[in-house]
Amino acid sequence: MLPTDSYSQQHQRSLADPAEFWRMQAARIPWYRIPDQILTTDADGLTRWYADGELNTCYAAVDYHVAHGRASQPALIYDSPVTGQVRTYTYLELRDEVAKLAGLLRGLGVEKGTTVVIYMPMVPEAVFAMLACARLGAIHSVVFGGFAPPELAVRIDDVRPHVLLSASCGIEFATVVPYKPLLDAALALATHQPAHCVVLQRPQCHAELHTHRDHDWATLLANAQPAEPVLLMATDPLYILYTSGTTGKPKGIVRDNGGHAVAMAYSMEAVYSVKPGDVFWAASDLGWAVGHSYIVYAPLIHGCTTVLFEGKPVRTPDAGTFWRIIDQYKVNVFFTAPTAFRAIRKEDSEASLRHQYDLSSLRALFVAGERCDPPTLNWLQEALNVPVVDHWWQTESGWAMVANQLGIEPMPVKAGSATKPVCGYDLQILDDDGRQLGPNQEGYVCLKLPLPPSCLPTLWNDTPRFKESYLSRFPGYYLTGDGGYVDDDGYVFIMGRVDDVINVAGHRLSTGEMEEVVGSHPAVAECAVVGIACNLRGQRPVGLVVLKDGQTIDPTQLERELITRIREHIGAVASFRNAVVVKRLPKTRSGKILRKTIRQLADGESVVIPPTIDDPAIMDEISTVLASHQIGIRFDS
Ligand code: COA
Ligand code: AMP
Repeated sequence: MLPTDSYSQQHQRSLADPAEFWRMQAARIPWYRIPDQILTTDADGLTRWYADGELNTCYAAVDYHVAHGRASQPALIYDSPVTGQVRTYTYLELRDEVAKLAGLLRGLGVEKGTTVVIYMPMVPEAVFAMLACARLGAIHSVVFGGFAPPELAVRIDDVRPHVLLSASCGIEFATVVPYKPLLDAALALATHQPAHCVVLQRPQCHAELHTHRDHDWATLLANAQPAEPVLLMATDPLYILYTSGTTGKPKGIVRDNGGHAVAMAYSMEAVYSVKPGDVFWAASDLGWAVGHSYIVYAPLIHGCTTVLFEGKPVRTPDAGTFWRIIDQYKVNVFFTAPTAFRAIRKEDSEASLRHQYDLSSLRALFVAGERCDPPTLNWLQEALNVPVVDHWWQTESGWAMVANQLGIEPMPVKAGSATKPVCGYDLQILDDDGRQLGPNQEGYVCLKLPLPPSCLPTLWNDTPRFKESYLSRFPGYYLTGDGGYVDDDGYVFIMGRVDDVINVAGHRLSTGEMEEVVGSHPAVAECAVVGIACNLRGQRPVGLVVLKDGQTIDPTQLERELITRIREHIGAVASFRNAVVVKRLPKTRSGKILRKTIRQLADGESVVIPPTIDDPAIMDEISTVLASHQIGIRFDS
């Protein structure tokens, strides 16, 4: 379905006439009503795609394939080394599971526009839940299972769900993590209370269902009648997914139905070069955008077989698990985060386990979530002998913004680059004053409006924050929050965030939020949390704290308490393991903490002391303290 002209011609066409370009791509999905209006602006002046189109995303992802020759094709393969289970669902079986669960939800009063929170581990029922919501036109909001109760509570209060779907436990390596106590703790903190909590009992752990609103999943399901897909407008929201911003309040990214479905289908062919019927595996978590887009929606909309993996790249049972899955299910295209390969490489540096498996089905490996460091890229290229494609995207876009578009024109890989802007994205590098920078000049990575389909139309219930966070810094552009440059050949290099967001093992987190938690400790006068380089997780947070006058708390005790606080407020995923006491923090004369300078010091980079610093001697003090705590690049335990 793709034209045969070059990447640059197709990219150019997508920018010259976006409406025409995306009108053509709309033919990739089954509509109930084909849109006439392709690109419009709503009452808030925001971009909308396919405003008069009608569809149902669940129908496009499931029922359509059942009716068009894929009923007996595997749709979903669940492989869970942590429970020893493998289950395969054909498209027909998937349709039946989803329809029944949709019936269960309808029985609880869920209908078009109702919000549903899904707080679940990596089990097929979580996928059914997302699709069941989509079937009814209910708006799901999946919360990553590794978040602590306060994070879940904040999301519950913002989404205001009628129903909360959960399970009795998750499994981390060999540890069973009971979810119900976390859920109960979150509901005790939240102001909004859902009418119903439906809990899937897993054999590893029994959840106590103790209030009138708690229901047993299997019991309700046994009495549910299947529900049919409902008709939705393309601009109706499909889901809300929260992501970290610079403050403690996460941003509710809204994804609509029509533009998302079209972009998902387009990306499968144009970016990943995948055909219907292929096996596509994204080793991510359903709680992240990668999981939403490339475990669930894109592969299913495209008629592929998708793999749902519950485990880790290492120790479940060993560093050969990824290779075993590629071999066992004949995976054609694989997608994960570079951090997963750093974990494998740490345990199997020669990739020797890879030789126990037949990886001949694999055509390409895609990585995202953080910049793929050149040593990991080289290691992968040698180990796999297939194109290894770094590509750059965000929760906000829901799909790649910069990639080596294998389906259009594979390009030579340049280590450190995510390659070129994907069709539909007009990427520009701007300086502080909003002027476009030329080749090799580093600045703010921005996207000229309009953003292509699937990109967030707004934030949930907060259009002013959407405009303020993304559109106000450079009028006419979307601010991605990343810094970078474009080289002479048009390759894009993403150099890291320009705000307080960090990326820890592929998990996007806010250092500002961690500062709020650290700063709430009674002994702490002020603090700075910065993300420093980490050989395993890419980045990890380190806290610098200044004690209140007269405080005599033992620094080791304080560090322990702060680590516990972060685990209890944000979650273990923050990997917050160091908090060091310093006498003062480096600041500008106007009182702004010099976080970038602290980070450079901690990373052992050469630091140019900013001329605006109020007292240069502080830098020496801080380096001495950091060195005495051996903070710098190292493998985590
Ligand atoms: N539920 C509960 N706890 C969780 C969790 C979940 N869903 N996910 C992570 N955690 C916990 C871990 O158990 C760990 O706890 P600990 O500090 O008590 O040991 C902590 O959070 C840190 O987790 P993580 O950074 O993931 O470390 P890890 O040792 O468990 O695994 C990797 C390290 C690199 C193997 C793993 O992070 C990984 O596979 N990352 C890929 C991430 C990814 O796919 N991102 C999506 C973008 S594509
Ligand atoms: P998330 O919203 O969790 O997907 O995180 C998005 C952020 O992760 C981006 O803004 C980048 O900072 C970072 N990121 C994702 N993919 C890449 C990549 N391929 N190269 C560099 N940074 C990346």
